[in-house]
Amino acid sequence: MLSTLRVASRQAVARESGMRALIAGARSGSTWANVPQGPPDAILGITEAYKADTFKEKINLGVGAYRDDQGKPYVLPSVRAAEEIVVASRLDKEYAGITGIPSFTKAAAELAYGADSPAIKEDRLVITQSISGTGALRIGGAFLQRFYPHAKKIYLPTPSWANHAAVFKDSGLEVEKYRYYNKDTIGLDFEGLIEDLKAAPANSIILLHACAHNPTGVDPTEEQWRKISDVMKEKRHFAFFDMAYQGFASGDADRDAFAPRHFVKEGHNIALCQSFAKNMGLYGERVGAFSLVTASPEEKKRVESQIKILIRPLYSNPPVHGARIASTIMNDPQLNKQWLSEVKGMADRIIEMRALLKKNLEELGSKRDWSHITSQIGMFAYTGLNPEQMEKLAKEHSVYATKDGRISVAGITSSNVKRLAEAIYKVTG
Ligand SMILES: Cc1ncc(COP(=O)(O)O)c(C=O)c1O
Repeated sequence: MLSTLRVASRQAVARESGMRALIAGARSGSTWANVPQGPPDAILGITEAYKADTFKEKINLGVGAYRDDQGKPYVLPSVRAAEEIVVASRLDKEYAGITGIPSFTKAAAELAYGADSPAIKEDRLVITQSISGTGALRIGGAFLQRFYPHAKKIYLPTPSWANHAAVFKDSGLEVEKYRYYNKDTIGLDFEGLIEDLKAAPANSIILLHACAHNPTGVDPTEEQWRKISDVMKEKRHFAFFDMAYQGFASGDADRDAFAPRHFVKEGHNIALCQSFAKNMGLYGERVGAFSLVTASPEEKKRVESQIKILIRPLYSNPPVHGARIASTIMNDPQLNKQWLSEVKGMADRIIEMRALLKKNLEELGSKRDWSHITSQIGMFAYTGLNPEQMEKLAKEHSVYATKDGRISVAGITSSNVKRLAEAIYKVTG
């Protein structure tokens, strides 16, 4: 009897709380009641913490955008000049075609592959404008998911840019890893990389950072690239290049494009993602390109038709303003020359800041070997600091960067490098 009463009262309580949840749900708009709270973006979290810090000499090394030596965002003078030309031309605002502005994509292809590339000369290159580098990756992921005949899986280096896995998973591909970074040497795990490429099933899709690997700043040497190309040819792997930093790594756009160009020369029919966010500073304009080297002009036509079918329901066609700026620069010999020297200027400032940071750490008497700071390349440096040390940097020294020890060298200036070195020295003791 007692237990029947208990059950009844429990049922009544459950009914009541169910009703309460329903009423609360109805009040708060129950359609999304089951949407779980997602984790905050790691980089945005750093920016928030940085903004909330009231210390005057705080340093933000989280952002993946170039800053000048005053720590300010930088609009390249060649970009300003090209934008004035574009505005003065009073062009209409009609839609671009699905694959974007032809004068832009033609120039982007020549910048990446070289004007004398066999893929361009033999009319075998499919190229489309994209919503910057991320959009290029997304188109590539979706195309492979639909048409790559062998596997629906892509191999990413460990570690890789945090967004890669998300982009490819959302494209419907499975994500697998291959070894890349050796935390003991703070360098490339070349043997591990080659072993993993050899162990992967034939015809696997391999994502390669063309230059300035993000987040480690560790790139293969030209000789190592040749070996990677050979192994991938033997295994008939498919090379999917992400080139978000052409020119930004070494200061020389041709040199930075060595890997994809070498692969094409060796007969790989590669995929390539380009971004003009970093090398032209066109971050928010979202200028990029996705290209595929095909076997023949006839194959190119078929592939191109499917790329268009894929893009149309995604975003119909790309924005024109940024692409017009990039096209104006690349198609005007004078502006192009100016731009290349400005890219070199940015790359050189980064290289100089790396050297200064290392020098300051050594002058402080640090017993650690900091040579990786200068041997790494591009916007990011992997310091080798652990999450606890990174936490201390933020809490005790107002220096903000990701927990994995990655710092954006673009956030270092000649006025904050000394304080940064002191902070790193203190936490690495
Ligand atoms: C390796 C890598 N790929 C792609 C991108 C894409 O950038 P965006 O979409 O701004 O061109 C980035 C940006 O940080 C990157 O580091």
